[in-house]
Amino acid sequence: MKSVKLAVIYYSSTGTLHAMADRLAAAGEKAGAEVRLRQVRELAPAEAIASNAAWKQHVDRTKDEPRAQADDVVWADAVLFGTPTRYGNVASQLKQFLDTLGPQWVQGLLADKVYAGFTASMTAHGGQESTLLALYNTIHHFGGIVAAPGYTDPLKFVDGNPYGVSHVTGGGNDAPLTDVQDAALDHLAQRVVRIAGKLRAA
Ligand SMILES: Cc1cc2nc3c(=O)[nH]c(=O)nc-3n(C[C@H](O)[C@H](O)[C@H](O)COP(=O)(O)O)c2cc1C
Repeated sequence: MKSVKLAVIYYSSTGTLHAMADRLAAAGEKAGAEVRLRQVRELAPAEAIASNAAWKQHVDRTKDEPRAQADDVVWADAVLFGTPTRYGNVASQLKQFLDTLGPQWVQGLLADKVYAGFTASMTAHGGQESTLLALYNTIHHFGGIVAAPGYTDPLKFVDGNPYGVSHVTGGGNDAPLTDVQDAALDHLAQRVVRIAGKLRAA
C-alpha cells in the first residue's frame, strides 16, 4: 500500500515554528508517511526583519529551504499548518498562503483531507488556542477534516492543549522545546498519519 502523504506547512520568524515543524516531519516519516516540509514565503519588509536579530538570522539561515506551493496541499492526504501566535491570530504570512488557495478550493481539491495545527506564543495563555481555532475556520471552508488531538493520549494531559500543539517561548522568546512538546508533536504527527491512512483505505 502507498504511504500517506503528509505536508507540514508553516511560518516562522525566529525559528520556534521551524523547530516544531522539523519534529513533526521526522515523526511523520517515522510513522511511515512521505513528507513535504515547507515554510511559506516571508512577506515582511526588510527593515522590519533587520530590526530583530533573531528574525534576520532565521531568514538568512533558511533562505534556501523550499517554499510552500499550492500543490503541496493538493498533493497531501494530511496537512499540518503551523503559525506563531500574532495577537491571538494566524500570522499574515501563513494567512496569505491560505488566501492564495482559492483556485484549488473552488475545485474542491482541498476537501476531505486531514488537517491539524501547531503554534507558539511568548506567554502562557497568550492566544494559542484562539490562534488554532482561527486557523481551523479556514479548514472548515476547505471541507477539511480537523483532527485535533483532544486528550486522546495521557501525554495530552501533560502539554494540555487539545486544539493542537503549542509552545511558550518565554520572555526571551527562545525557550527551547522540551520533552513535553516533542511528545505532543510526535503524537500529533502519528495521529494525522494514522487517520489519513484509514480514510484512504475506506
Ligand atoms: C506582531 C507580533 C504579535 C505577537 N502576538 C503575541 C500574542 O498575542 N501573544 C503572545 O504570547 N505572543 C505573541 N507574539 C510572540 C510570538 O508568538 C512568538 O515570538 C512566536 O511564537 C515565536 O515563533 P517563531 O520563533 O517561529 O517566530 C507576537 C509576536 C509578534 C512579532
